[in-house]
Amino acid sequence: MKQDMIVILDLGSTRNTDIARQIRDMGVYSEIHPHDITPEELKGLENVKGIVLNGGENRIVDGVPVDIDPAIYECGYPLLAIDHPAAKCGRNFKELPNEDALREFVFDVCQAQPNWNMKNFIADQVELIRRQVGERKVLLALSGGVDSSVVAAMLIKAVGKQLVCVHVNHGLMRKHESESVIQVFKNQLHANLIYVDATERFLGKLEGVADPEQKRKIIGSEFIRVFEEEARKLEGIDFLGQGTIYPDIIESGTKTAKMVKSHHNVGGLPEDLKFELVEPLKQLFKDEVRACGVELGLPESMVYRQPFPGPGLGVRCLGAITRDRLEAVRESDAILREEFAKAGLDKKVWQYFTVVPDFKSVGVKNNARCFDYMVIIRAINTVDAMSASVERVDWDVLQRITDRILSEVGNVNRVCFDMSPKPPATIEFE
Ligand code: XMP
Repeated sequence: MKQDMIVILDLGSTRNTDIARQIRDMGVYSEIHPHDITPEELKGLENVKGIVLNGGENRIVDGVPVDIDPAIYECGYPLLAIDHPAAKCGRNFKELPNEDALREFVFDVCQAQPNWNMKNFIADQVELIRRQVGERKVLLALSGGVDSSVVAAMLIKAVGKQLVCVHVNHGLMRKHESESVIQVFKNQLHANLIYVDATERFLGKLEGVADPEQKRKIIGSEFIRVFEEEARKLEGIDFLGQGTIYPDIIESGTKTAKMVKSHHNVGGLPEDLKFELVEPLKQLFKDEVRACGVELGLPESMVYRQPFPGPGLGVRCLGAITRDRLEAVRESDAILREEFAKAGLDKKVWQYFTVVPDFKSVGVKNNARCFDYMVIIRAINTVDAMSASVERVDWDVLQRITDRILSEVGNVNRVCFDMSPKPPATIEFE
């Protein structure tokens, strides 16, 4: 293993991730583990140079303070205690008031080397994956999103053709999205890629369904069914690769932190598939995942793409999905992305897309009355997607996009710009 590591034991602090980030910002790799890690599990981690006992506001669970196995005190690692009784005793323990103390602990007490960088991280993960997988096979659902793409690239580097990627096109992808997955993974990285065009199946199931939650449920459960069917056709697969990243684990609730929302990566697939998980990104934050993808040679357009909801254009073709409106969403979205890129807004604006409502309005084309759909443009900025403000898009850029949509997209006679912040609106419309 190439990297030194500081382990943070989560004893109910809400600042685990801040401290992990602070240590990584010093150039030293850090991992957060639950407080009930056993001394054996701890010793199984390589290159551990020190341990932070990170107590905090959630240390009392159901009236009982959570604590570490006392045998960990005897393991010989330097310990730093934050908001934890251990800070008051013992020569190995130090209490934290500021960042200098953390720096002193990491470098002076633990003697850790600042050797955390993406090259070393990838080299270590490749070695760990090879040890875990051996000669066996790994299956991966490759959506083309940032996390699944990076994990695919990592697994290809580690086990090559022992990885089987399944890309399910649910017919709700953006323009040329599936083609780009095939181009990058099959043609460039020579992945073992199974492409499933399930467009008709998804659109069939969604026919006439107008309720947004119902649509989301159909898309989610149908996705799992298609993937499961493909998995059952394959033989000798023991592992499932997952693009789980650290925020997914936090949002799904740790032993001391409350659940925010259950994440589809964490415990999503049916139990009878019985795979062991391979999750090489599960200790990374989103920006680190992107840096990892670039280091693995993925195109920046794939690694720095804006967030895209799992149900895809299905929640942007409002109400019951029809093929003509779905096509209008896809084409107008492609124009918007192209023009935003030309104007340099693709690097500035957090998320931008179009939606097409399920009603028509009167207009005039070629001197005759027309009755067509409208396209709504949304462009927002946010830090955490919990609240969002509207980007003040330059009028000329909006004008160009409007002109192009009106002349290039069929069945559309009107373009609107959504001025609503979140709250009270949400980012997506459904
Ligand atoms: P809302 O509409 O809730 O969206 O303000 C917040 C952010 O989440 C994205 N989003 C999703 N992402 N699966 C995802 O992976 C989903 O089902 C989903 N729904 C919304 C949305 O695009 C925005 O960035």
